Amino acid sequence: MENLFDKQMNKATVFQNKDIISPHYIPQKLPFREKQIDVITQGLSAVIHNSKPNNVFIYGKVGSGKTATVKHVLDHLEEFVKKNNLSSKHCYINCRSHESKYKVLLKALRTFYPEKDFLGYSSSFVYEKLLEYATTKKAHLILVLDEIDKVKDIDELAYSLSRGNDELQGGSITMIGISNNLIFKEKLDPRTKSSLCERELVFNPYNASELMQILSERCVTAFKPNAVTQGAISLASAIAAQESGDARTAVMLMQRAGEIADGEGVDSVTDVHIEKAKASVEEEIIISMISTLPQQQQLVLYAIAQLTLQKRGIRKVSGEIEEGVLYSGEIFETYLDLAKKFGERTITSRWYRQYINELEMYGLIFVTNSGKGIKGQTRLIKLGFDAGKIKAALEKELLKLVN
Ligand SMILES: Nc1ncnc2c1ncn2[C@@H]1O[C@H](COP(=O)(O)OP(=O)(O)OP(=O)(O)O)[C@@H](O)[C@H]1O
Ligand SMILES: [Mg+2]
Repeated sequence: MENLFDKQMNKATVFQNKDIISPHYIPQKLPFREKQIDVITQGLSAVIHNSKPNNVFIYGKVGSGKTATVKHVLDHLEEFVKKNNLSSKHCYINCRSHESKYKVLLKALRTFYPEKDFLGYSSSFVYEKLLEYATTKKAHLILVLDEIDKVKDIDELAYSLSRGNDELQGGSITMIGISNNLIFKEKLDPRTKSSLCERELVFNPYNASELMQILSERCVTAFKPNAVTQGAISLASAIAAQESGDARTAVMLMQRAGEIADGEGVDSVTDVHIEKAKASVEEEIIISMISTLPQQQQLVLYAIAQLTLQKRGIRKVSGEIEEGVLYSGEIFETYLDLAKKFGERTITSRWYRQYINELEMYGLIFVTNSGKGIKGQTRLIKLGFDAGKIKAALEKELLKLVN
């Protein structure tokens, strides 16, 4: 009998190296990020001259290459530091999994002392130990805080690190904060803001033609020769450009389209496969986007999803029912109830409006001003995607609050 895996092994595929088109892969070349690479490299090159680099705050929308770019520069730094025997170390921390000052410091310490386990030690011990490491080794430590907006006590973390720095005799600690959250910076304590944002760097979204070049380059090594049509690349780029210039969407569309083509047993990926991939990728992207929203904004979105499912819509003066449409005011009321239920502090109506604007910008909701046919002047809000799916995704996220 034929072995099950022999059969898999002999299956035809459009891929040459599928990993290269995975969203987790960091390509050697990052087109259109030359300037950002240069700024980060220049900043970090202070360590070559044995001085402390400035802290940097990096901001840019989802999929604009922030994580890939920073990791790329750090790889080069690590290689250089090793080759030249310099005393500098870095630690990449995804704050989505290390969402407090304590967890961030612990993660850093474990990276610098890989042989020891510090779990269970107090926050101040972990902090002192980190300073001790920098001092005794006279090391310049670089902490990359990716998705920094997820750190609950960011003001305390930033304050401790910058105060620690002042105390250090030789060695230093530098923060590179990365975020795709527009309003995160505005909410920071002024002291945190001025220390974290010594330098700022913006990543603009990619346009369709930039995405096309990015995709083409990655497809050359990810797929077999001639296995991807130009039409497929153009369509994937156009779709991703609409999705706020997100390279991750482009890469995911291409990867999924390749899988679909393999499933059909054909030897090239066309625009038809991209169309099919779009539906399946879209859902995945929405769910991952929801997980990156701040908790309060998740609660606002949850209120919208819940009301959408409960209500029949609003009645126009004509008597007609407009389905799925909600009043801004009723969402805010529901949000307040939900926040109470989850034991969260509540935001003011000014922040609420800001969150609504952002949700609209992300394409999660549509906002219009009530015009003719509706009594009074108010903002009307409609969910951009299936309410049931959004609610389910949010429940998974918000459960973390109760646990
Ligand atoms: N210039 C580029 N060239 C090639 N691939 C890129 C480029 N920019 C981004 N990518 C790819 O797009 C995907 C998303 O990039 P990345 O993870 O760096 O985005 P991000 O800005 O950190 O997004 P988020 O805010 O969601 O964390 C990755 O697969 C990355 O390799
Ligand atoms: Mg990122």
